[in-house]
Amino acid sequence: MKTEILKLLREQDGYLSGQQICETLGVSRTAVWKVMNQLKEEGYQIEAVPNKGYHLLQTPDILSVSEIESRLTTDYMARKLYYYDVTDSTNTDCKRYMEEEGVQGTLVVADMQRAGKGRRGRSWESPSGHAIFMSLGLKPEISPNKASMLTLVMALAVCDGIAEVTGQETGIKWPNDVVLHQKKICGILTEMSAELDYINHVIIGVGINVNQTEFPEEIAKTATSLCIEMGHPVQRASVIAAVMSYFENYYEKFIQAGDLSAILEEYNDRLVNRNAQVRVLDPKGEFSGTALGINKSGELLVKKEDGSVTEVYAGEVSVRGIYGYV
Ligand code: BTN
Repeated sequence: MKTEILKLLREQDGYLSGQQICETLGVSRTAVWKVMNQLKEEGYQIEAVPNKGYHLLQTPDILSVSEIESRLTTDYMARKLYYYDVTDSTNTDCKRYMEEEGVQGTLVVADMQRAGKGRRGRSWESPSGHAIFMSLGLKPEISPNKASMLTLVMALAVCDGIAEVTGQETGIKWPNDVVLHQKKICGILTEMSAELDYINHVIIGVGINVNQTEFPEEIAKTATSLCIEMGHPVQRASVIAAVMSYFENYYEKFIQAGDLSAILEEYNDRLVNRNAQVRVLDPKGEFSGTALGINKSGELLVKKEDGSVTEVYAGEVSVRGIYGYV
């Protein structure tokens, strides 16, 4: 009921009478009054005026199941939703839920992670109160060798979600970092459980720097947050809901096409690597070239100095001007 009441309050410009809420939701006045008190305790500023009703003055940056749910516009992404104040890693939690329940689109969100995982065995800074740590569980009926493309689908959804909520135009550093003003604002870690020819589930873990005002020294030069770049805090729940909505749309297109062809243009438009000088850290030998964009399989096309074009499947790619490669 909390979710529904939050939704009603947000939809109403002026005052919403207790009577209206009771009639819409088919609940008692006492029940409404109790929920209003709970919401106030959680930090919502709700004005209650006799004979007029309730008015939501301000929503602080609250993360909770009700707050996120009340903003969701998806059909199935994040409709199975878990929230933790503290956990080790949302990727680990989501993996467990996918094994136990296997619900397509299960989302796990945390305010803080004790053991946040980054790519390539690195850790992911996950202090409380400022950022988004979330993991989405999927059961795509695609070949396991296509699963890495889902990371690209998510990167695009993150860009669009951020743009919708904040108006900030972020870019994608292939394959899956989202950058704002040349600094990293989001990282994505995709993990999979699969047989040779069958995916059990895929977990897409997303860390978005939202309201941090500073970063530890080791990453301060390469990381930024929406708050730092915009000069004011942003509501994390709005960003989560917007990202889920874009992801659901792009995911459907991806599954239908069986590759990235339906969203290729959108992705390449966001690509900060495009037409930029890149250095490919290929284990077989580093090389430089100009990135042309991705193909429908998500590979980065890099034109070498001799004019030949190489498809880079995975790995580390440094882009001139981004994260200090000058
Ligand atoms: C990267 O190294 O760029 C990827 C970072 C991914 C971090 C997110 S935070 C939510 C989810 N849970 C984790 O433990 N990691 C991912």
